[in-house]
Amino acid sequence: MTPRYEIGVDAARCIRCGRCVGVCPSRIFSQERLGGAVALHDTDHCIGCGHCAAACPVGAVAHDAFPPERLRRIDRSALPSAEALEGLLAVRRSMRCFTTHEVPDELLRRIVAAADRAPTASNARGLGYVVVTDRAVLRQIVGFTLATFGRLVRVLSAAPVRWLLRPLLPGLYRYVPTFRRMEREWRDEGTDRILRGATALLVIHAPRRSRFGAEDANLACQNASLMAETLGVGQVYAGFVLSATRQRTGALERLLGLGPDRRVRALLALGMPQFRYPCAIDREPAEARWMKN
Ligand SMILES: Cc1cc2nc3c(=O)[nH]c(=O)nc-3n(C[C@H](O)[C@H](O)[C@H](O)COP(=O)(O)O)c2cc1C
Repeated sequence: MTPRYEIGVDAARCIRCGRCVGVCPSRIFSQERLGGAVALHDTDHCIGCGHCAAACPVGAVAHDAFPPERLRRIDRSALPSAEALEGLLAVRRSMRCFTTHEVPDELLRRIVAAADRAPTASNARGLGYVVVTDRAVLRQIVGFTLATFGRLVRVLSAAPVRWLLRPLLPGLYRYVPTFRRMEREWRDEGTDRILRGATALLVIHAPRRSRFGAEDANLACQNASLMAETLGVGQVYAGFVLSATRQRTGALERLLGLGPDRRVRALLALGMPQFRYPCAIDREPAEARWMKN
């Protein structure tokens, strides 16, 4: 449920610029005309995004969730340039070669904080994070993932299913030898092709019924991956684990001690990289179509 907020406009400070009116997604602020007095309506519709307080140039918006001590003046000269951001986006790569060194907790905390900066639909902010560094639990997650795929492979390999599905799902069948090999390497050599020997796993979960939980979680995940890159922490999206959680609903959530109303929606494996890529590659750009006047 959306909390109720105390919101007001200090008429003595307000310069009637109308920014709060323009930025509020819930249309709580209004002006009869530009430059007119600002009025408030239906404050119980506030989604708590804080745009009103952040956009006001004179601190005239009083919002109990965003008192002055929670507002920071932005110094744009300290932000990365477009070139710096382009550089970061080009060097961010998935890492699959980790050392056995643990990622320091302080770096993991900064990665989670970066994730938590991401936008969420309707400012729901319903995401939760689990940072798994316990090696036994990491091994359990690898085992769970491989067992789940093992089960799938057995079903897919049964003669009648194979005859029926193989022509329909060539993409899935292409992975069958890979799943078999990954399971064999784990069992015989202890080689982890799922988390790739990462020493931490960032699990991002959302309310089971959230319509945008997956989108929210994956935006948060991308923030986390960019922060990891800047901190020198290697990261790779744990897609096999996510796929296993979809095949066995609720199983990973139980393993992690999450309640029945939570669903894992994104996973990022993290670890100290064995090396840093000396080269960035230029990819074929995807088609980007413009529809102009
Ligand atoms: C949804 C998603 C799932 C992924 N799952 C895995 C995975 O399970 N294992 C893995 O090694 N890489 C995984 N990746 C990484 C991709 O293979 C990788 O992003 C892609 O090859 C491009 O390389 P780059 O990330 O270095 O640019 C995943 C990426 C995404 C976006």
